[in-house]
Amino acid sequence: MGRMDDDILKVLYTEEEIAARIREMGAAMYRDLEGKDPLFISVLRGAFVFMADIVRACQVRSDVEFIAVSSYGSATKSSGAVQITHDIQQDITGRHLVVIEDILDSGNTLAFLKQYFLTKGAASVTICTLLDKPSRRTKAVHADYVGFEVPDEFVVGYGLDYAQKYRNLPYIGVLKPEVYGG
Ligand code: IMP
Ligand code: MG
Repeated sequence: MGRMDDDILKVLYTEEEIAARIREMGAAMYRDLEGKDPLFISVLRGAFVFMADIVRACQVRSDVEFIAVSSYGSATKSSGAVQITHDIQQDITGRHLVVIEDILDSGNTLAFLKQYFLTKGAASVTICTLLDKPSRRTKAVHADYVGFEVPDEFVVGYGLDYAQKYRNLPYIGVLKPEVYGG
Protein backbone atom coordinates (compact mmCIF):
# COMPACT_ATOMS: atom_id res chain seq x y z
CA MET A 1 0.00 0.00 0.00
CA GLY A 2 2.44 2.72 1.09
CA ARG A 3 1.70 6.33 1.93
CA MET A 4 -0.96 8.29 0.02
CA ASP A 5 1.65 10.92 -0.82
CA ASP A 6 3.55 8.31 -2.82
CA ASP A 7 0.66 8.23 -5.36
CA ILE A 8 0.92 11.95 -6.11
CA LEU A 9 2.79 13.07 -9.23
CA LYS A 10 2.80 16.77 -8.33
CA VAL A 11 1.22 19.19 -5.87
CA LEU A 12 -0.84 21.92 -7.55
CA TYR A 13 -1.84 23.87 -4.44
CA THR A 14 -0.32 23.49 -1.01
CA GLU A 15 -2.29 23.61 2.22
CA GLU A 16 -0.98 27.15 2.81
CA GLU A 17 -1.90 28.36 -0.68
CA ILE A 18 -5.42 26.98 -0.32
CA ALA A 19 -5.85 28.63 3.09
CA ALA A 20 -4.65 32.01 1.78
CA ARG A 21 -6.99 31.88 -1.22
CA ILE A 22 -9.95 30.90 0.96
CA ARG A 23 -9.32 33.88 3.25
CA GLU A 24 -9.54 36.16 0.18
CA MET A 25 -12.69 34.46 -1.08
CA GLY A 26 -14.31 34.64 2.34
CA ALA A 27 -13.63 38.37 2.58
CA ALA A 28 -15.13 39.02 -0.87
CA MET A 29 -18.15 36.89 -0.04
CA TYR A 30 -18.63 38.70 3.26
CA ARG A 31 -18.96 42.02 1.43
CA ASP A 32 -21.59 40.57 -0.93
CA LEU A 33 -23.56 38.46 1.54
CA GLU A 34 -23.59 40.50 4.74
CA GLY A 35 -27.17 41.09 5.88
CA LYS A 36 -28.70 38.60 3.44
CA ASP A 37 -28.93 35.68 5.91
CA PRO A 38 -27.48 33.30 3.29
CA LEU A 39 -27.84 29.55 3.37
CA PHE A 40 -24.61 27.76 2.48
CA ILE A 41 -25.28 24.44 0.76
CA SER A 42 -22.37 22.04 0.43
CA VAL A 43 -22.39 19.45 -2.34
CA LEU A 44 -21.36 16.14 -0.83
CA ARG A 45 -19.07 14.49 -0.68
CA GLY A 46 -16.30 16.44 -2.45
CA ALA A 47 -17.03 19.87 -0.96
CA PHE A 48 -17.08 18.86 2.70
CA VAL A 49 -13.53 20.06 3.42
CA PHE A 50 -13.92 23.34 1.51
CA MET A 51 -17.27 23.97 3.21
CA ALA A 52 -15.75 23.79 6.66
CA ASP A 53 -13.08 26.33 5.72
CA ILE A 54 -15.11 28.76 3.60
CA VAL A 55 -17.92 29.23 6.14
CA ARG A 56 -15.35 30.10 8.80
CA ALA A 57 -13.63 32.51 6.39
CA CYS A 58 -16.94 34.32 5.78
CA GLN A 59 -18.31 35.51 9.13
CA VAL A 60 -21.86 36.39 8.07
CA ARG A 61 -24.94 35.30 9.98
CA SER A 62 -25.94 32.23 8.00
CA ASP A 63 -26.81 28.57 8.24
CA VAL A 64 -25.63 25.44 6.51
CA GLU A 65 -27.16 22.55 4.59
CA PHE A 66 -25.83 19.56 2.72
CA ILE A 67 -26.98 17.96 -0.48
CA ALA A 68 -25.58 14.78 -1.97
CA VAL A 69 -25.67 14.05 -5.66
CA SER A 70 -24.34 11.31 -7.82
CA SER A 71 -23.70 11.56 -11.51
CA TYR A 72 -23.37 8.18 -13.06
CA GLY A 73 -20.29 7.50 -15.09
CA SER A 74 -16.74 6.28 -14.70
CA ALA A 75 -14.44 7.29 -11.87
CA THR A 76 -12.97 10.23 -13.78
CA LYS A 77 -15.85 11.33 -16.06
CA SER A 78 -19.46 12.14 -15.24
CA SER A 79 -22.26 10.90 -17.48
CA GLY A 80 -24.44 13.98 -17.34
CA ALA A 81 -27.40 12.49 -15.47
CA VAL A 82 -27.46 13.98 -11.97
CA GLN A 83 -29.44 12.37 -9.14
CA ILE A 84 -30.05 13.71 -5.65
CA THR A 85 -29.21 11.01 -3.11
CA HIS A 86 -29.67 13.20 -0.01
CA ASP A 87 -31.73 16.36 -0.15
CA ILE A 88 -31.63 19.51 1.99
CA GLN A 89 -33.83 19.48 5.07
CA GLN A 90 -35.62 22.83 4.99
CA ASP A 91 -37.82 25.13 2.94
CA ILE A 92 -35.66 27.47 0.86
CA THR A 93 -38.41 29.75 -0.42
CA GLY A 94 -37.08 33.29 -0.62
CA ARG A 95 -33.62 32.35 0.67
CA HIS A 96 -30.32 33.49 -0.77
CA LEU A 97 -28.38 30.30 -1.40
CA VAL A 98 -24.64 29.88 -1.78
CA VAL A 99 -23.79 26.53 -3.31
CA ILE A 100 -20.35 25.35 -2.19
CA GLU A 101 -18.70 22.97 -4.65
CA ASP A 102 -15.27 21.38 -4.92
CA ILE A 103 -14.81 21.60 -8.68
CA LEU A 104 -16.75 22.91 -11.67
CA ASP A 105 -15.91 20.52 -14.48
CA SER A 106 -18.47 19.69 -17.20
CA GLY A 107 -20.98 21.92 -15.42
CA ASN A 108 -23.63 19.20 -15.24
CA THR A 109 -23.87 19.14 -11.45
CA LEU A 110 -24.08 22.89 -10.87
CA ALA A 111 -26.36 23.55 -13.85
CA PHE A 112 -28.73 20.94 -12.47
CA LEU A 113 -28.56 22.19 -8.87
CA LYS A 114 -29.01 25.84 -9.76
CA GLN A 115 -32.17 25.02 -11.70
CA TYR A 116 -33.38 22.71 -8.94
CA PHE A 117 -33.01 25.37 -6.23
CA LEU A 118 -34.59 28.11 -8.34
CA THR A 119 -37.55 25.82 -9.06
CA LYS A 120 -37.93 25.33 -5.30
CA GLY A 121 -38.28 29.08 -4.84
CA ALA A 122 -34.82 30.33 -3.83
CA ALA A 123 -34.49 34.11 -4.10
CA SER A 124 -30.98 33.74 -5.54
CA VAL A 125 -28.42 31.01 -6.15
CA THR A 126 -24.77 32.03 -5.90
CA ILE A 127 -22.11 29.53 -6.91
CA CYS A 128 -18.81 29.24 -5.08
CA THR A 129 -16.36 26.63 -6.31
CA LEU A 130 -12.84 26.04 -5.10
CA LEU A 131 -11.65 24.80 -8.49
CA ASP A 132 -12.74 25.52 -12.03
CA LYS A 133 -11.70 23.36 -15.00
CA PRO A 134 -13.14 25.49 -17.86
CA SER A 135 -11.58 23.38 -20.62
CA ARG A 136 -14.06 20.59 -19.96
CA ARG A 137 -17.29 22.61 -19.79
CA THR A 138 -20.25 21.27 -21.75
CA LYS A 139 -22.98 23.24 -19.91
CA ALA A 140 -22.87 27.00 -19.46
CA VAL A 141 -22.61 27.73 -15.73
CA HIS A 142 -21.51 31.00 -14.20
CA ALA A 143 -19.44 30.62 -11.04
CA ASP A 144 -19.62 33.73 -8.86
CA TYR A 145 -16.55 32.83 -6.79
CA VAL A 146 -13.68 30.67 -8.01
CA GLY A 147 -10.63 29.71 -5.97
CA PHE A 148 -8.31 28.47 -8.68
CA GLU A 149 -8.57 27.69 -12.37
CA VAL A 150 -7.03 24.27 -13.00
CA PRO A 151 -5.73 22.66 -16.19
CA ASP A 152 -7.38 19.58 -17.69
CA GLU A 153 -5.86 17.09 -15.26
CA PHE A 154 -7.56 14.84 -12.75
CA VAL A 155 -6.92 16.28 -9.31
CA VAL A 156 -7.36 14.83 -5.82
CA GLY A 157 -7.11 15.95 -2.22
CA TYR A 158 -8.78 18.57 -0.05
CA GLY A 159 -12.10 16.71 -0.46
CA LEU A 160 -11.65 15.57 -4.05
CA ASP A 161 -11.44 11.86 -4.62
CA TYR A 162 -10.35 9.21 -7.01
CA ALA A 163 -12.57 6.14 -6.45
CA GLN A 164 -13.49 7.61 -3.01
CA LYS A 165 -9.86 7.82 -1.84
CA TYR A 166 -7.46 10.75 -1.25
CA ARG A 167 -10.18 13.09 0.07
CA ASN A 168 -8.19 13.59 3.27
CA LEU A 169 -4.98 14.83 1.65
CA PRO A 170 -4.54 18.40 2.93
CA TYR A 171 -3.29 19.70 -0.45
CA ILE A 172 -4.51 19.39 -4.07
CA GLY A 173 -2.42 17.28 -6.39
CA VAL A 174 -2.34 15.23 -9.56
CA LEU A 175 -2.21 11.46 -9.32
CA LYS A 176 0.47 9.41 -10.98
CA PRO A 177 -1.03 7.92 -14.16
CA GLU A 178 -0.25 4.38 -13.03
CA VAL A 179 -2.62 4.83 -10.07
CA TYR A 180 -5.66 4.98 -12.35
CA GLY A 181 -4.21 2.81 -15.06
CA GLY A 182 -3.51 5.73 -17.40
P1 IMP B 1 -19.29 18.29 -13.21
O1 IMP B 1 -18.68 17.53 -14.36
O2 IMP B 1 -19.08 19.78 -13.35
O3 IMP B 1 -20.72 17.92 -13.03
O4 IMP B 1 -18.51 17.84 -11.91
C1 IMP B 1 -19.03 16.78 -11.16
C2 IMP B 1 -18.14 16.27 -10.11
O5 IMP B 1 -17.09 15.55 -10.73
C3 IMP B 1 -17.44 17.24 -9.18
O6 IMP B 1 -18.26 17.68 -8.14
C4 IMP B 1 -16.35 16.34 -8.65
O7 IMP B 1 -16.83 15.55 -7.58
C5 IMP B 1 -16.04 15.44 -9.84
N1 IMP B 1 -14.80 15.85 -10.51
C6 IMP B 1 -14.66 16.53 -11.66
N2 IMP B 1 -13.35 16.72 -11.96
C7 IMP B 1 -12.66 16.12 -10.97
C8 IMP B 1 -11.24 15.97 -10.67
O8 IMP B 1 -10.34 16.42 -11.39
N3 IMP B 1 -10.95 15.28 -9.54
C9 IMP B 1 -11.90 14.76 -8.70
N4 IMP B 1 -13.21 14.90 -8.91
C10 IMP B 1 -13.59 15.56 -10.04
MG1 MG C 1 -16.26 12.99 -6.94
